[in-house]
Order: sequence, then structure tokens, then C-alpha cells
Amino acid sequence: MSKVGFGIIGCGVIAPIHADALSRIPDAKLVAVSDVVEKNVNAMAEKYGAVPYTDMHEMLKRDDVHAVSLCVPSGMRLEMAEACAAAGKHIIAEKPLEVNCERIDKLIAAVDKAGVRLASIFQYRYADGPMHIRRALDEGRFGKLVLGDAYIKWFRSQEYYDSGKWRGTKKLDGGGALMNQGIHQIDMLLWFMGNAKSVTAQTALVGHTGIEVEDLAVAMIQFESGAMGVIEGSTAIWPGHPARVEVHGTNGSAVIEDGELAMWKFQEERSEDESILKSLDKGETLGSGASDPIKSLKSEGHRRQLADFVESLIANRPAKIDGREGRKAVELIEAIYRSAETGKTVTL
Ligand SMILES: NC(=O)c1ccc[n+]([C@@H]2O[C@H](COP(=O)([O-])OP(=O)(O)OC[C@H]3O[C@@H](n4cnc5c(N)ncnc54)[C@H](O)[C@@H]3O)[C@@H](O)[C@H]2O)c1
Repeated sequence: MSKVGFGIIGCGVIAPIHADALSRIPDAKLVAVSDVVEKNVNAMAEKYGAVPYTDMHEMLKRDDVHAVSLCVPSGMRLEMAEACAAAGKHIIAEKPLEVNCERIDKLIAAVDKAGVRLASIFQYRYADGPMHIRRALDEGRFGKLVLGDAYIKWFRSQEYYDSGKWRGTKKLDGGGALMNQGIHQIDMLLWFMGNAKSVTAQTALVGHTGIEVEDLAVAMIQFESGAMGVIEGSTAIWPGHPARVEVHGTNGSAVIEDGELAMWKFQEERSEDESILKSLDKGETLGSGASDPIKSLKSEGHRRQLADFVESLIANRPAKIDGREGRKAVELIEAIYRSAETGKTVTL
């Protein structure tokens, strides 16, 4: 495979970010787009020079579509992924991979059975800051990990939830402030801190009406490593603040704000720290979802992840964030919901 042909299913808010990203990847080409709403699919097709389909199954018959971006509401991905996999297409799925682990496991099984590749979008992992932290963790620079926290104090208007029937529903959104919004930072937290062992949590709906999911959640996490941490997530906090992920160890601390480094301090300094610190103000930010799902979101994170996916397909190796990796954040969020419902600590 020299150039990877893409189809996008679901031409709503996030789809143009995928199309923009693909247009900046030399080894990729957006071939076709699909949506059940004719005006959505036609607008995307015209803007990006792709062939429009209102029936995704027709699009999947094309030999020049090798991979599909699934940009539909979260709880629709299982059945679509099954159809894509059966048609021999590789899949890159928006977050969350699906709305619960039961559906994710079926999705992974379908992909494995068909022998196609699967990637789960978590574009903030591809920002420079988180990659510096991951490298420093691999080199043991933090010492023993003590605390790891994620704070997602965001704002979504009532109009946002009212803008799509699927938003704020258990069946198609899977959850609220954590499953839809905070999942990026929760994924990053697990990537840094390792697996969680148990969780004690509370959730509430405080700032919106007519939705089935939480807009406020607080969780206390015990990691397998012995470290602890908290997750605070909300979509009811005006005006919305930069999302933070903090990693603290016996020898160092680092903080990510909206994907970029906001703090980088180690007991044992290294020459490279100076250039990393200099980049603190200038890092290419991936944008923030603090007050709006998309207005300030840039396609650079998606470009990096899609480029990595394209490279993995050409090299015939698994994607860096494959299905099993994408599942981890959903598993923890489900455990948080179970703890909030039962009032008990949940072991993962
Ligand atoms: N990575 C990120 O930062 C990010 C940001 C926003 C949204 N998302 C994710 O992207 C997904 C989509 O969110 P959105 O905000 O774009 O939603 P949206 O409602 O704006 O768009 C969804 C689109 O899917 C289409 N659709 C519905 N059923 C379909 C079907 N059977 N076949 C084809 N198309 C169908 C709808 O007509 C709509 O155009 C969600 O899972 C969300 O979590 C990710």
C-alpha cells in the first residue's frame, strides 16, 4: 500500500478536523465521505473533493477506500466497525471507542477476526508536552510516582446538549463530562501513571437539564503502582478552564495544560531541560475544548495521530493507540460510574 485511501463516516462537527488532517498527510488521500443527512455529506464532499455517499455500505464497496474514520455518535461505532471490518477496511475511531467495554470488546473481536487494524483517537497524546513526560517516565526521572491527577473544568452550554439528540444520552454518548469530554485527560493520566487498581467516586447533574448523564464528577484513584490521584471533571463550570494533567513523583513533577507543558521540574536537572523549558510558551498547542467542543480545536493532533496510523498501515504494524489501549480510559470511567451509583469503592 503506497497511499492510503480514506473514507469518513459521519460528517458532523469533528469530521472536518479529520479531513483537514488527512489533506496534510502525503501518504493519505480522502476518497469518500458518508452521512445519512444529505446536506452534511454534500457539504463535506464539495469542500474536500470527496465522493459523497448517504449509504455507508455503498462507500465500503470501493477498492480505493482502505481505511475509515468513524466520526459518528459514540454508541454507533460497534455496528459500523463490524461492517467496515467485514469489508476489509482498517478503522480509526473517534473517542470514546464505544460507550462501554462490552461493546468495545465486541468491536475489537470483529476487527481481530477480519484481520484489519484499529486505532482509537486520543490526539492529545501526540502533543509535544505529553511525549516529553512519557519519555521522562521511561527514563525514571520522576522517581517513585506519588500522585497523578486530571482536572477538566469545562463549560458546555445547554444549547450544546440540545444540538444533537444523541448528546447527553446513555445509549449514544455513554456518559457526560467524563465519557465525552474528560476522557482525553483520563487517557493521558493512565498513559502516564499506569493502570488504576480501584476508584471511589461521586457524580451529579448540576448545570443542565434534560440529559441522562453527569456534568460533574469527582473520583479518587488508587493506581496499581501504589500512587494515588484524583479526577475532577465538569461541563458546568463557566467560562471553562484549561484541562490539567499532573504527574508528581519523589524526584520530579510535571503539569500539562491543554496538551502542553505548564510545569517541568526535576531534582536532577539535565541539559535538555533548558530547551524543553524554552518550549513551554511556544509549543504548538492542539487547542482547548474548555468552552466549546470545536471552535478552538486545531487539526494538528489529529494530523499527527492519523499520520502515525497511516505509517502503521504501510508498515503493517499495530497502531500506537490500538483498540486495547483505547479501551483503558472507558474501563476506568465505567468503574467511576459504578462507584458513584453504588456508593462503594470499585476494583478494576
Ligand atoms: N477528538 C476530539 O477532540 C473530538 C471532538 C469532538 C467530537 N469527538 C467525537 O466525535 C464523534 C462525533 O461527534 P460530533 O460532535 O462530530 O457529532 P455530530 O452530531 O456533530 O456528528 C455526527 C454525524 O454523524 C452522522 N450520522 C448519524 N448516524 C449516521 C449513520 N448511520 N451513518 C452515517 N452518518 C451518521 C450525523 O448525521 C452527523 O452528521 C463523537 O464520538 C465525539 O465524542 C471527538
